[in-house]
Amino acid sequence: MKPIYVGLLGTGTVGGGTYAVLKRNQSEISRRTGRNIEIRMIADLDQEKARCLTAGDNVTITNDAFEVARHPEIDIVIELIGGETVAREVMLAAIEHGKHVITANKALLAKHGNEIFAAAHQRGVIVAFEAAVAGGIPIIKVLREGLSANRIEWIAGIINGTSNFILSEMHSKGLDFSAVLAEAQRLGYAEADPTYDIEGIDAAHKITIMAALAFGVPVRFDQVYVEGITRLANEDIRYAEELGYRIKLLGITKRVAKGIELRVHPALIPVKRLIANVEGVMNAVIVNGNAVGSTLYYGAGAGANPTASAVIADLVDVARLLTASPEQRVPVLAFLPELLSDTPIVTM
Ligand code: HSE
Repeated sequence: MKPIYVGLLGTGTVGGGTYAVLKRNQSEISRRTGRNIEIRMIADLDQEKARCLTAGDNVTITNDAFEVARHPEIDIVIELIGGETVAREVMLAAIEHGKHVITANKALLAKHGNEIFAAAHQRGVIVAFEAAVAGGIPIIKVLREGLSANRIEWIAGIINGTSNFILSEMHSKGLDFSAVLAEAQRLGYAEADPTYDIEGIDAAHKITIMAALAFGVPVRFDQVYVEGITRLANEDIRYAEELGYRIKLLGITKRVAKGIELRVHPALIPVKRLIANVEGVMNAVIVNGNAVGSTLYYGAGAGANPTASAVIADLVDVARLLTASPEQRVPVLAFLPELLSDTPIVTM
């Protein structure tokens, strides 16, 4: 059977990790899909970096992401360039050309998801985004599949690894905010613009996406209440500890009488709670459903390999769909525009 041909856009931390993990685990991945998956084209402005990554492999390298998005040979486009301008245009171009798209771009989905999912639905292609929320934790699958019997009541989680890393280091070592942020940047956890991490914006992107999946509403990033960790001082951390609490930046969404709450802010959590002990770049998400009760998911929320794990899980899903006969296919599009609810967001 013909391999599935993939175009990779971006060879930064996550793009590089995705290429390496796909190569390293090629035989397991092919066995799971029944097809070979080949990254056939790569687009990166830094073509030299892409050449180093792919040394000796049969990959076409270009600096033009649109060339990949429109290329007739490509079945799936993995968008890992980030940002909201070019990424949006490239993604829409790929969709228009009938490509399935995999992305880790939470900012783009939180702000332009309604447009992107509608375009994908119209063209009959998939937009998969496991890597957009909570790094290596398969939380999108949990919301879409694992808990599909439930009415989801609320979600609360540590969903920004960088800010959790900073708070953990402030708690355990008494370090200063700015020194720890520099370390998170060096380790490749932080966003290109780290204010997204520390001001709660990245967590707001992620809670927006989870709320849309959990409650079947459109993405409404503009209605999230957002407060980051930049105003927390070492004294706040010390006082919290003395009183038996840890400070964590939480993303929260829940059903309330008037609609749906969407918020991100620091919270005091009693130290005996599991989630209070989630340290470093790790993420943890609690999902409460009316049948299952509260369930907790834990894992690395950022970094090359954990995020690559999520990107490739989507790749396997899409490859399975492309391999199965039409009658074996399970619908995986989560955002069917005609099924979206108009439940209001409660403004905080
Ligand atoms: N900057 C993000 C974080 C990366 O720290 O969680 C993963 O989305």
